[in-house]
Amino acid sequence: MNDKSALKQLIESDEFSNRLNLDRKTYGLVFDRRTLNAMYEVIKKYNVDYIDFPISSGKESLIFNVKLRDKSTKAMKIYKMSTLKFSNTMEYIKGDYRFDKEKITRSNVVYVWTQKEYTNLQSLKNAAIHAPKPYGFYKNILLMSYLGTSRSPAPQIKDLNDNFNEIYIKLRSYIWKMYNKAGLVHADLSEYNILYYRKEPYIIDVGQSVSTKHPMADEFLKRDVTNITTFFHKKGVECDASKLYDYVKGDIND
Ligand SMILES: Nc1ncnc2c1ncn2[C@@H]1O[C@H](COP(=O)(O)OP(=O)(O)OP(=O)(O)O)[C@@H](O)[C@H]1O
Ligand SMILES: [Mg+2]
Repeated sequence: MNDKSALKQLIESDEFSNRLNLDRKTYGLVFDRRTLNAMYEVIKKYNVDYIDFPISSGKESLIFNVKLRDKSTKAMKIYKMSTLKFSNTMEYIKGDYRFDKEKITRSNVVYVWTQKEYTNLQSLKNAAIHAPKPYGFYKNILLMSYLGTSRSPAPQIKDLNDNFNEIYIKLRSYIWKMYNKAGLVHADLSEYNILYYRKEPYIIDVGQSVSTKHPMADEFLKRDVTNITTFFHKKGVECDASKLYDYVKGDIND
């Protein structure tokens, strides 16, 4: 795509650097300079052809549907540099033996977070759990498989009308597998972070997910099972938080 050079030109232009002399600020622009630079590198490294449409714009991240030159479609998640809260994120990094050896500062925490989500997606893939497949990452940008149609992303389970019993049973086994095979606790599991794609629940948004050896893992697991059972209970599914907790901690996954 020729826009790549246009993007690079914009980043390097005097206008851009003079008007915006603070790297972390976005002012009227959507992206700060470091993110624009990272986008430029991602476009190059992963052969992104074009950004098709925005999927989600939240407090901490932006997600786009992007097309690669090989015609495949991916989801591109861009963590916002300025709003990722240092103290909140540290709770999920410190104590996770996989990441707590890294030297983490306010300015690199977002990169560690992005890498953490990538690594967690890889663990889910290895454990054959339905989740986006990781494709690559660079700085604060993650590429993963896109779940949805050419027009719109798969719905969150909060927006479904039926099939809750069936989804709950599947999800129960995924949470078991996530804990016992991938060695992870999601730590932000809710009806918002599960998509319904090709008649299957898919677990998403695993940046904060921690190793089961994290000192807070049990607390996070209790919170997850409470959120999930509260939602499914409201939808008429017979379930309860302590039963789900015992199931996840038990040996049998049926
Ligand atoms: N791989 C994907 N394919 C399709 N849609 C996706 C994908 N990943 C995320 N989404 C959509 O984007 C939304 C936000 O993604 P995600 O939950 O990963 O980000 P977030 O960190 O929660 O963002 P926020 O700042 O909004 O809380 C999801 O609820 C989902 O609708
Ligand atoms: Mg989310």
